[in-house]
Amino acid sequence: MRKALLCLVGFSVALLFAGTASAFHDEGVAYCGGCHTMHNSQNGQLVDPNSPGGNAWLLKDETPSDVCLSCHSQTSATSNRGRDVLSLDPLVPNNECGAGDFVFQLEDNINDGHNGGNPSYWIPGHKSGHSINAPSKGLAVDPVLTTAPGGNFPSSILGCSSCHDPHGNESFRLLNGAHEVQAGAFDFVSPAPNVLGIGVGTGAAESPTNHNAYLDGYSDWCANCHGNYHSSAQLKHPSGEPIGGSIAQIYNLYNGTGDQLGGTQATGYLTAVPFEDPSSTIASTAGPSASSEVSCVTCHRAHSTSSPDAGRWDFAVTLLEEDGHNSGSYAIPNPYAAQTADQRSLCNKCHNKDEHDALNP
Ligand code: HEC
Ligand code: HEC
Ligand code: HEC
Ligand code: HEC
Ligand code: HEC
Ligand code: HEC
Repeated sequence: MRKALLCLVGFSVALLFAGTASAFHDEGVAYCGGCHTMHNSQNGQLVDPNSPGGNAWLLKDETPSDVCLSCHSQTSATSNRGRDVLSLDPLVPNNECGAGDFVFQLEDNINDGHNGGNPSYWIPGHKSGHSINAPSKGLAVDPVLTTAPGGNFPSSILGCSSCHDPHGNESFRLLNGAHEVQAGAFDFVSPAPNVLGIGVGTGAAESPTNHNAYLDGYSDWCANCHGNYHSSAQLKHPSGEPIGGSIAQIYNLYNGTGDQLGGTQATGYLTAVPFEDPSSTIASTAGPSASSEVSCVTCHRAHSTSSPDAGRWDFAVTLLEEDGHNSGSYAIPNPYAAQTADQRSLCNKCHNKDEHDALNP
């Protein structure tokens, strides 16, 4: 089905927006004119008015990220949200498919920790995750970090094509593998992670029975730019290492601050705190075994979230219900809302340091 669409998508751009389950990249290179213009001219008008002298890569918009966002941004409140990675309103972000939403980059404050409402302590949106240069959408290079912490990838060139291959490949989400990226600006040494991805075309949110299945390789992939970050050898939190029998058991039993021992291995999986395991499937609800691994995506999303450092939950709040209060930013939903509103940090999924909570007599 996907391959059969290949000849159709080259046919006309209009078809892309016809509302069908139209493919564009089709796991390979899409038609060149989707992103490039040969003369920066069509009907006698400049295709990219921002680059009257010509665009470095003969792109249709100013930067690679502008080009991607010309199709990957939400266009109206009712537009198909499946492929959008930049919503119109930071209080109404897209359904999570895994990566999170760049719209939080545009927030003035995402600090829901102590003093978070005091302008002296505001944490601006560029801390919400990866900052990319896309002037057409008001997005800019990170004003603080000049390189990837732990590594030496320059922030000045970070954009969609740093992580995704603009010319397509068969990796999960077209992620770059162990080769040069951005026409030789940087070399990746580790391959794309092995992940079974949920469909992005439908706009369906991730859920316990419809989530990316992280098999292996994420920590090494992020390390392409971040170096050996969070390695236990550096006395930082382990990542890309087995979680071990006792922590696996805590994860499986833990069903929230309000029900700390009521979970089971068969139903323990929490999309807010995923782990890597080669036996995971998109629909699997099983929690980890001793050999499952904690990984960067256990705690972070890859684009941006309304938590500092692209946290899958807000690392700075004590109770998840405090999220959004000080800053007025989007409150990341409490996955254990049915058990209690007074849910504590999701670090407890593996560490259960809320065992003496008043809710747990
Ligand atoms: C002309 C419109 C268009 C442009 C330009 C475009 N995309 Fe896409 N992209 C789509 C559509 C439509 C889909 C959903 C279906 C598909 O896979 O083709 C998609 C899907 C994707 C996916 C998810 C693939 C999957 O199914 O897992 C990624 C990742 C992606 N695009 C990245 C990019 C990047 C990076 C750029 C810029 C270099 C870009 N896109 C530019 C239209 C576009
Ligand atoms: C989804 C968007 C997209 C599509 C489709 C696309 N390109 Fe590109 N291309 C880019 C971007 C972005 C760059 C700039 C380099 C980078 O950021 O990786 C680029 C750079 C290039 C370059 C110069 C640098 C290099 O990597 O060699 C060539 C040549 C090129 N593209 C040719 C093509 C051809 C030929 C096609 C069609 C078969 C095509 N591109 C389709 C986005 C795209
Ligand atoms: C720092 C690396 C990085 C950058 C920069 C980046 N992406 Fe991604 N993107 C990822 C990863 C990793 C995933 C898969 C996340 C997961 O599911 O764990 C992803 C997922 C996606 C998806 C699938 C839908 C979703 O929400 O998960 C699309 C579409 C996409 N990216 C497009 C883009 C576009 C367009 C840009 C630029 C505006 C961009 N990405 C910038 C790493 C990146
Ligand atoms: C292509 C290189 C690249 C890859 C791959 C990459 N990052 Fe980054 N990352 C950067 C750069 C550059 C910065 C600093 C600029 C910024 O914050 O946007 C950064 C910043 C961050 C930050 C801090 C954000 C802030 O503003 O304080 C976090 C958290 C992060 N990365 C996590 C990850 C995770 C998790 C992965 C893997 C899913 C990943 N990165 C993959 C380049 C990368
Ligand atoms: C156990 C949860 C956890 C895991 C696993 C994890 N992180 Fe973090 N990360 C955090 C927290 C919490 C912070 C906030 C700062 C802190 O506590 O040091 C953070 C901060 C960061 C920052 C921002 C640092 C800065 O100077 O602004 C980067 C970059 C980052 N993590 C990258 C990664 C990468 C890459 C991986 C995988 C190799 C990873 N993290 C794995 C929880 C985690
Ligand atoms: C998916 C499970 C998982 C999650 C979620 C998790 N951790 Fe861990 N954590 C581990 C594992 C595994 C170890 C290593 C334990 C060992 O070696 O005995 C560890 C170790 C630690 C240690 C001890 C480090 C040392 O050197 O002794 C601290 C402190 C810690 N975690 C804090 C946190 C915090 C804070 C969070 C939330 C931001 C968090 N963890 C989230 C699995 C997890």
